[in-house]
Amino acid sequence: MTESRYDLIVFGATSFVGQILSRYLLETFGVGKQVKWAVAGRSETKLVNLKTDLGQAAKNLDMVIANAEDEASLKAMCDQTRVVVSTVGPYALYGEPLVKVCVESGTDYCDLTGEVQWIRRMIHTYEEKAKQSGARIVHCCGFDSIPSDMGVFFLQEQARETLGKTCGQVKMRVRTAKGEFSGGTVASLMNVAREAASDPALRKELANPFSLCPPDHRSTRRQPNVKSAEYDADFDAWLAPFVMAAINTRIVHRSNAVAGAPYGQEFLYDEAMMTGKGVKGRLAAYGVTAAMGGFLLASAVKPSRWVLERFVVPKPGEGPSRQAQEEGFYDLRFVGKTDDGQLIRTKVTGDQDPGYGSTGKMLGQAAACLAFDVSREERPGGFWTPASIFGNHLLGRLREHAGLTFELLEQR
Ligand SMILES: NC(=O)c1ccc[n+]([C@@H]2O[C@H](COP(=O)([O-])OP(=O)(O)OC[C@H]3O[C@@H](n4cnc5c(N)ncnc54)[C@H](OP(=O)(O)O)[C@@H]3O)[C@@H](O)[C@H]2O)c1
Repeated sequence: MTESRYDLIVFGATSFVGQILSRYLLETFGVGKQVKWAVAGRSETKLVNLKTDLGQAAKNLDMVIANAEDEASLKAMCDQTRVVVSTVGPYALYGEPLVKVCVESGTDYCDLTGEVQWIRRMIHTYEEKAKQSGARIVHCCGFDSIPSDMGVFFLQEQARETLGKTCGQVKMRVRTAKGEFSGGTVASLMNVAREAASDPALRKELANPFSLCPPDHRSTRRQPNVKSAEYDADFDAWLAPFVMAAINTRIVHRSNAVAGAPYGQEFLYDEAMMTGKGVKGRLAAYGVTAAMGGFLLASAVKPSRWVLERFVVPKPGEGPSRQAQEEGFYDLRFVGKTDDGQLIRTKVTGDQDPGYGSTGKMLGQAAACLAFDVSREERPGGFWTPASIFGNHLLGRLREHAGLTFELLEQR
């Protein structure tokens, strides 16, 4: 391969989260220094506006014009860079041509998708070609699914060090989180609900915890799944379903599967939200369950979806203010159990709102990790997950540069 002009290009830099990512990269790496990067999108005017918003420091930031529907422009973009980081979504609507071109041109790629059905289709269609071309494709490099995937990776590393073995079961519980949704995320969620409503095969696929695992990855144990209000004695708290569990659990299982089952062939994993103790916690658990069910139902049915899109949810390009991002946070608790009854507790926190402030930083560090930390000898072409390709490299970057903490709380 000829030497690329850039280490990474942000495609979709004008999106809500793309702007946050671009600002983060600017503040972290500057322009034209050690990390060579550029912004890309379909509209030159919008890219110029973005540079103006970013201020004087972005004066020499290069722009690349590319349209998600025009393969020739995507190819010209890929030819200039080692890594493309894409925030053009919903990915199920706009994402495939870029994955195809990256795979064909051997360009590394990472993104923020949480759309299981689309990831599955990309793996099926392009994995063999990626292995041949050397392109490393890493989906889910935002709040879904880095804190979960890297949180389980961290817990298992700690278990190996302190207990001498990995845990056959891990539970992740969202203790607290503060943050809002953006237009792009809501559009992606509603798109999945709409597609699933009219497609029974897709509903079945979405219900399979191993839907992103290679077909030879087998497990005989039934995976736990919090679908309604329930009490969890391990945390002495009531639980409600967690909306991101549908993607995070699939990514964690894929991490285990592609690494040769280091967590165990029969590994159990689930996620839920803690709503508190006693009657108050119980009522909150039922309330959250009902609200979630209502939103998904309303997204699936045409008239109510129209009302939601028109009057309730943010439009594409909209999202939480900078102040709201900075005031946001999350606190995730993990408990792991070995098959012989030993127990370990860990904690993962983020210092900004999960979906945007923190996601922008995680995605930026994942892209840098792909460009600089993992060689193709170590991790060759194919479809990876954050934990399986980045491991300790990303753990270090998240702790040092992205405001995440990973902490061992207890082992016995
Ligand atoms: N995993 C996570 O934690 C997480 C967090 C946040 C967001 N996300 C996902 O990230 C994606 C972006 O979210 P967002 O809220 O930032 O979205 P957004 O503001 O709605 O932006 C969508 C972007 O796609 C671009 N686009 C659309 N069609 C295009 C085309 N044909 N060619 C080139 N660009 C095109 C738009 O370009 P223009 O600016 O030119 O219109 C815009 O930049 C969504 O899929 C969302 O679900 C995931």
